[in-house]
Amino acid sequence: MSINLEIWPRVSLLNKANIILIGFMGSGKTSVSKALSALSGFTLIDTDQKIEELENTSITQLFNTRGEDYFRKLEESLCESLLVTKNSIVSTGGGMILSEKNQELLEKIGVIIYLEASVETIVFRIKNETKRPLFSQKTPLNSLSILLQKREPLYKKLADLTVSTNNKTVEEITQKIWDFYNSNSVDQKGRKALHHESNAN
Ligand code: S3P
Repeated sequence: MSINLEIWPRVSLLNKANIILIGFMGSGKTSVSKALSALSGFTLIDTDQKIEELENTSITQLFNTRGEDYFRKLEESLCESLLVTKNSIVSTGGGMILSEKNQELLEKIGVIIYLEASVETIVFRIKNETKRPLFSQKTPLNSLSILLQKREPLYKKLADLTVSTNNKTVEEITQKIWDFYNSNSVDQKGRKALHHESNAN
């Protein structure tokens, strides 16, 4: 079943109770979302984990057996189902923002936080991990960098707040997001405040 997005905006503010973390692989979404969930008491929803549970397999297996397009479709239906979610921290897969439909949906689901990280930080964090189909130890730094550059404008366009995670502790990042959410996220008229840290370290 698909939801008519045209009639949704009137009720969308009710859903600003959610905080959505977007960003590239290795940007810190998983660690920050756990800490944010503990700090806020909000329910943690990790979209990759949800898809793995629903499909009863790993993301890598899904890519290998059904292909990336299939995975992206699952991401879309999961994203759509989140329209009715409240009081949750949503940690998204790095490519969730690729589809225009997801971009529209995410804006309605919650306050969007972009966790920014340099390509060096990203490689440092994920170099020993084996669970990412779009990254292996053989992936050249250059191609990772190109993918990041391609996606960066999308992350930035969607973000209500951009937080650099380079050289920052999970606690610092989490507190920053929580403070922003409590003070600025939705003002009296329901407008979202915009704040971006430019190249902050
Ligand atoms: C992907 C990122 C992964 C996962 C899948 C695809 C991407 O999530 O959704 O492997 O396209 O960047 P993380 O960002 O949590 O690694």
